[in-house]
Amino acid sequence: MSEGHSTYTPKTGLGRWFDARMPLPRLVYDSFVAYPVPRNLNYAWTFGGILSIMLVAQMVTGIVLAMHYTSDANLAFGSVEKIMRDVNSGWLLRYMHANGASFFFIAVYIHIFRGLYYGSYKAPRELLWILGCIIYLLMMATGFMGYVLPWGQMSFWGATVITGFFTAIPLVGDWIQQLLLGGFAVDNPTLNRFFALHYLLPFMIAGVVVLHIWALHVVGQSNPTGIEVKSKTDTVAFTPYATIKDAFGMIVFLFFFAYFVFYLPNYLGHPDNYTVANPLKTPAHIVPEWYFLPFYAILRAITFNIGPINSKLGGVLCLFGAIIMLFLVPWLDTSKVRSAVYRPWYKLFFWLFVADAVLLGWLGSQPAEGSYVFMAQMATLFYFFFFLVALPVLGLIETPRRLPNSITEAVLEKNKGGSGHPAAAAAAPQTKG
Ligand code: HEM
Repeated sequence: MSEGHSTYTPKTGLGRWFDARMPLPRLVYDSFVAYPVPRNLNYAWTFGGILSIMLVAQMVTGIVLAMHYTSDANLAFGSVEKIMRDVNSGWLLRYMHANGASFFFIAVYIHIFRGLYYGSYKAPRELLWILGCIIYLLMMATGFMGYVLPWGQMSFWGATVITGFFTAIPLVGDWIQQLLLGGFAVDNPTLNRFFALHYLLPFMIAGVVVLHIWALHVVGQSNPTGIEVKSKTDTVAFTPYATIKDAFGMIVFLFFFAYFVFYLPNYLGHPDNYTVANPLKTPAHIVPEWYFLPFYAILRAITFNIGPINSKLGGVLCLFGAIIMLFLVPWLDTSKVRSAVYRPWYKLFFWLFVADAVLLGWLGSQPAEGSYVFMAQMATLFYFFFFLVALPVLGLIETPRRLPNSITEAVLEKNKGGSGHPAAAAAAPQTKG
């Protein structure tokens, strides 16, 4: 996976035998031991590793849950209750899996915002970014289908509302909805196909993650300065430096995760999902899981017809448009400078965008009425303004701050006056003025 010359030398006879036939240990050594990483990576760069363990945790807990779950509309709700009460450690498995989904999304949002802040998507990392966007789409599909499985009220009505939006698409909309549902309404066939796909998609995610990490190892990691690696002093070996930092980041993250699993296991869920699905009783407010709320707010913000496009279709187009924006980011951003650290105006707009996303999330949880609708419309407008106006225009008109000549110089400048990082001191001689 790594570029350049391999420095791996097998130490035992068995190692040499293996290496000549299938050099897997060499691949691991080159990719995760000797692999050079920029020396200035901060904790935002630990989230890729955190995501990797969350994916594994979701797959392991999910597979064990599937051994006890029944995807039959008459039995699903009861089988989940049985897992909670009768299966050994079933409550733990379920709480880990349900909260794990939320924490997976927390990590992915930090990972995406990190990319947006430091311009990680810029050449030559466009494909890496696109693969990330595909993973994100697959994660959304997996999360949506997983939420239907306990067959509670929110499962049922969430699925009804969201699949209903597909009918707004001209000509093929009804067909898509029926294909998703396996009929004309959310029912047993829906539950079965959602279960099958919910089981399948994480394996597809894992496949795309392999491509994502492959692409990463071809171009190398970016870093907070956004300046490419120029010399050996700009990097440190992945092991022990990045492994230890990643491990520490994971442990801290897992503490937060454990806190929710053990002390607030239902905080991120909805109480209505502890009532069995009832097609004859619509809940007062149908809300998706928190990680879909910003998109839900955008979907509901379009309350007016735009020419031949009715409001429902307008909402669906805005929702898809909001996701497409992410795919286009590498080409929408015209700036020659990668990192927001050196872009004062972009930095401001980035934080406004974060605030806008949080606001949209909150609005998505409120009823679509009164002033909430107007606020959601303004927040939606800003969302598209950020991508379609701020990103292209700022790159052309903004005067960036002076960039250091190299990663090493940036590190040394930062440590000037203080005791400094020992590794920085070791690499100091030529550059320090
Ligand atoms: C299951 C989900 C994902 C996993 C396991 C994953 C894994 C990783 C890993 C291990 C890294 C290297 C460490 C790091 O930079 O944090 C990385 C980097 C990166 N990821 Fe992801 N990722 C995922 C989702 C995404 C998504 C959704 C996006 C964007 C939409 C994305 C975009 C990137 C980019 C641009 C980099 C390079 C960052 C840089 O070097 O500056 N990833 N990913």
